[in-house]
Amino acid sequence: MTADQATAEKLIDMIMNYSRAQLVRTAVELNIADRLAGGPRTAGELNEEIGGHLDALSRFLKACTAIGLLEEPEPERFALAPLGEFLRTDTHAGSAISKVALGAAGPGMYRMGEYFTEVVMTGQPVAKSAFGLDFYDYYAANAVEGARFGQMMALMTHGCAEALATTFDFGPYRKIIDIGGGHGMLLSRILEAAPHTTGVVFDMPETVAGARTYMEEQGLADRAEFVAGDFHSELPSGGDLYTIKTVLCDWDDEHVARILANLHRATTPGTEVLLIDWIMPADAYGNKDFLIGLYLGSFNMLAQSGGKIRTLAEWTALIEGAGFQISDTLTLPDPPTHWDVLRLTRR
Ligand SMILES: C[S@@+](CC[C@H](N)C(=O)[O-])C[C@H]1O[C@@H](n2cnc3c(N)ncnc32)[C@H](O)[C@@H]1O
Repeated sequence: MTADQATAEKLIDMIMNYSRAQLVRTAVELNIADRLAGGPRTAGELNEEIGGHLDALSRFLKACTAIGLLEEPEPERFALAPLGEFLRTDTHAGSAISKVALGAAGPGMYRMGEYFTEVVMTGQPVAKSAFGLDFYDYYAANAVEGARFGQMMALMTHGCAEALATTFDFGPYRKIIDIGGGHGMLLSRILEAAPHTTGVVFDMPETVAGARTYMEEQGLADRAEFVAGDFHSELPSGGDLYTIKTVLCDWDDEHVARILANLHRATTPGTEVLLIDWIMPADAYGNKDFLIGLYLGSFNMLAQSGGKIRTLAEWTALIEGAGFQISDTLTLPDPPTHWDVLRLTRR
């Protein structure tokens, strides 16, 4: 193979990634890994459970062998390859990866890609072009998709929440309000670490319902309130600590300023806020992959809802402009990535 052919193949590989992502998502939706956990089966046997179109299923399974999820040890008999084993939901890793497949490769995230050129030309989010709705309104209107997004976010927050709960002393606080708290993962880990505190998950109505379910499962719902609202309009008062994780990065400066102004109005001088988000670093902490992830994230967030991953100088301007000051910064390890935490005090 010439160098040019190798380069072309690399690009074609990149271009074909879209169908691979969808094959993985579909394998998860159809529970293929769980159905093959007991050993090889034919397409016909699988289809008796799935109730699909036999020829299409057979071709789908062969496509899954092409991308390394499955093997075909004998004609028309399919078995899990090592990659496919990793999708079994009876394993910790498989259950996690399955949630990522359903959330990250679902239409809510995926269809935005069709409009990336529009993003570049306008500098505006394109959820309305893709769905006729703003990004989070799309999830609110599509219960299954919304729940999958929420579960994926909770999963992405798990390591960070555990790291924060062991690093930061939540003991002195009585009531912690998590703004845009999703399915309650962060608040759950905090309440576990600080047994005398209570908390509030503040989010959109559909999402706080997911938080209630999760925190009931965790046995923590009796120490939590679930408050539905719109952080662009108003935030609940009465917390002596507020947390806000991976929320402000979703929005442009104007929206961030409005959310922070609402937080200022809801709080009294001295109230503390933990802003947990990403900071665009100059040197990516020596981790090139992490920097690439931030570049991708920053563009994707612009496409979704107008957001941005900000430098510390950009964060500082917004925070101070809204009447808060940064009293401390810390970095939480959550390999292979990490989270930045800005501790703010309301002036
Ligand atoms: C990227 S998720 C972060 C969730 C959670 N903080 C975490 O880190 O896992 C953003 C959250 O903001 C919520 N959200 C979006 N728009 C909102 C609004 N106008 N008012 C309240 N919550 C909103 C979403 O429902 C979602 O749970």
